[in-house]
Amino acid sequence: MAAVLINRSTVPPRVTTPSRAVSGGEDADEESVRDGDRGVEVRPATRADLLAVYRIEKSVFAQPWPFAAFEKLLDAPAFLVADGGEAELSVGADGVAAGDVLGYVVGDVTPNHGRDIGHVKDIAVRPDAQGDGLGRRLLRESLRELAVAGATVVKLEVRESNHRAQTLYADEGFEPARRIPRYYADGEPAFVMALDLGSWAGG
Ligand SMILES: CC(C)(COP(=O)(O)OP(=O)(O)OC[C@H]1O[C@@H](n2cnc3c(N)ncnc32)[C@H](O)[C@@H]1OP(=O)(O)O)[C@@H](O)C(=O)NCCC(=O)NCCS
Repeated sequence: MAAVLINRSTVPPRVTTPSRAVSGGEDADEESVRDGDRGVEVRPATRADLLAVYRIEKSVFAQPWPFAAFEKLLDAPAFLVADGGEAELSVGADGVAAGDVLGYVVGDVTPNHGRDIGHVKDIAVRPDAQGDGLGRRLLRESLRELAVAGATVVKLEVRESNHRAQTLYADEGFEPARRIPRYYADGEPAFVMALDLGSWAGG
C-alpha cells in the first residue's frame, strides 16, 4: 500500500512514525474542546485511553488494528478521543473498563514536498453512542488538527459497502478519488476519498 493510503486496511499499515508530537496528557486541557450541551469532550488521546479505544475497535471492526498500532500512534497529531465525562464505566467480558471513551479518531500527516498529506487512518464510535453526532465531531476536530499540523489535503480509505461512513465523509466535503480493488483481506474494494483542507476551512 502506498504510504499515503490509510484507514481500515488489512495489514495494520498505520504503524508509522508520527510526524509531530502535539497530543499528550499535559496539554490535553488546553487543546480540548468541550461540548457544553452534552458534556462530551474531544481531546487528545492519552495512554490511559488506549484499552478503551482498543475495545471499541474490536467491537466495530471485523479486522481490528492490534493494540500496538494505537500505542505507536499515540503522538500522532490527530489521535483524539470523545470523552463522555460523567458516563458510567462499563466493564466488558475481558474485565477491562471501557472508561468514558465514546469514540476516537486517528489521523497523522506525511510530509510531501511542501504539500503535506493528512490521513484519517481510523475513526469509530462505540455502538451504543453512534448516530448522535460524535462521528462527525471527531472527524471535524481531526481535520482541524491535521490542518494545524500542516496538511493541505486529507485522504482516507473506506470500504465500498460502508455507506454510512461514506455519507459522513461526503457530507464533510470528501470526494471519491479512486477505487482500489481487493484492498481488504476479505476481497472488498476500498474507495480513496480526498478533501482539500483549504476549501473545507473556507466552507
Ligand atoms: C462511521 C461512524 C464513525 C459515524 O459515527 P456516528 O457518531 O455514528 O455518526 P454521526 O451521528 O456523527 O452521523 C454523521 C453522519 O453519518 C451519516 N449517518 C449516521 N448514521 C447513519 C445511518 N444509520 N445510515 C446512513 N448514514 C448515517 C449521516 O450522514 C450523519 O449525518 P446527519 O446526522 O447529519 O444525517 C460510526 O457509525 C462508526 O463507528 N461506525 C463503525 C466504524 C466505521 O465504519 N468507521 C469508519 C471506517 S472508514
